[in-house]
Amino acid sequence: MERGISKVMLALDNMTDQEIREFLNAHGALLKIVKIGMEAFYRYGPSFVAEISKQYGLEIFLDLKLHDIPNTVSKAIHSLKGLPIAFLTIHLSGGEKMIRAAQLAMHESLPKAKLLGVSVLTSLDEEDCQKIWQRNTDEVFHSLYEMALKSEIDGIVCSGFELAQAFEIERANNSQRAPIKVCPGIRFENSTKDDQSRVMTPKEAFDKGANYLVMGRAITTNPKCLTQVELFT
Ligand code: C5P
Repeated sequence: MERGISKVMLALDNMTDQEIREFLNAHGALLKIVKIGMEAFYRYGPSFVAEISKQYGLEIFLDLKLHDIPNTVSKAIHSLKGLPIAFLTIHLSGGEKMIRAAQLAMHESLPKAKLLGVSVLTSLDEEDCQKIWQRNTDEVFHSLYEMALKSEIDGIVCSGFELAQAFEIERANNSQRAPIKVCPGIRFENSTKDDQSRVMTPKEAFDKGANYLVMGRAITTNPKCLTQVELFT
């Protein structure tokens, strides 16, 4: 299935170990990929990742957003060897050398997993970008995305509002390959935005070219929506 729930990575945020298991006991069969972030990984550790994957037959997106010197990122990835990870994140702003060190470590220790580069965090606004990089969000995204293309990273995490720019940069660079595009900041027509400022619906994001969506609260606070596949297309 090209679209639908199999292309939704469910973010297991704001839940204890027990709450996650209760949620997955009730709804895990409707899911394919779950995202475990720093919150659960730091609290429950690698064995939790392995257990969730095995017990519920789920693919794991481990969203650690690694960002450090190349050697440390490389060693961190080697430490994950043997875990059933399908996707892992690093920050593109760690630079080309860090990206390459991460790719090499993935090749050696997590050969089946895809490496995703986080572009500009959706929590950063124009003022933040100016303060950090003295450039606007579009300019920062542009240079990070060109770096992602050059390094041939498997995919990127970006706002759905940046997809058009991403495709434009691919065209301008005559890129032969398109990185996988994973988009958070997704809400159904009538759901609340919570702390996300710019949101779009699953249909809008897929229409703009997203390959996968990261969705958390819109589903975890209303799991009945999982049975309405049309909401996700
Ligand atoms: O609950 P909600 O759907 O807003 O959750 C979005 C998920 O996507 C969270 O796990 C958050 O950490 C993640 N994320 C994000 N914006 C980014 C990158 C990741 O919201 N730029």
